[in-house]
Amino acid sequence: MIIKQAEFIKSAVNPSHFPEPEFPEVAFAGRSNVGKSSLINTLVNRKSLVKTSSRPGCTQLINFFNINSNFFFVDLPGYGYAKVSKKIRAQWGPMVERYLSVRPNLMGVLLLIDIRREPRKEEFELMQWLANRSIPALIVLTKADKLSRNKQQKQLAATASMLGCRTEDIILFSATSKQGRESVLEELGTLFSQ
Ligand code: GTP
Ligand code: MG
Repeated sequence: MIIKQAEFIKSAVNPSHFPEPEFPEVAFAGRSNVGKSSLINTLVNRKSLVKTSSRPGCTQLINFFNINSNFFFVDLPGYGYAKVSKKIRAQWGPMVERYLSVRPNLMGVLLLIDIRREPRKEEFELMQWLANRSIPALIVLTKADKLSRNKQQKQLAATASMLGCRTEDIILFSATSKQGRESVLEELGTLFSQ
């Protein structure tokens, strides 16, 4: 898939505020600070279409972007960040689950995992939840630039074995070096053509 145009549409919490599901969409999910917003900026080749921050908990609402007037990208707030207030933490699960449950145009979810961490309870639960609803999930290991190529391959194999999937089903990605950008775009093209 080639991205020619990207535009922020709106932020929302409740389904009544989501944009009409007029285009197919994919959502970007994962732990706080894993690099969801940076991945979107890299895909659309813009430095700051989406706000990013070294402080976890930067994205707190569900953000919708229009791509090529043909698709939506949806940047989800991250989970697992202990320092946000209890109220925000309590809202996260229901907010994201509601989003994932109600969107008839959701073609798939990109689940991002920091290459230096192992998948944990939240990732397994989210994958199970998506599988139960037949929503395709694509795993992206982010911040690949933090490891040598050799260690990247080791981590790829370890993650695939833990998640019970093939290494071919996981993409190594770096927003810094743009490694994996083409692979993610290719997979998105496949998701959207289904
Ligand atoms: P929340 O909105 O808090 O859930 O975080 P997020 O997942 O959207 O992460 P974000 O894109 O804001 O990135 C978090 C931090 O990681 C920022 O300081 C980014 O610059 C940094 N970062 C993101 N991707 C990469 C990468 O590929 N390599 C390196 N080295 N740093 C990255
Ligand atoms: Mg973010």
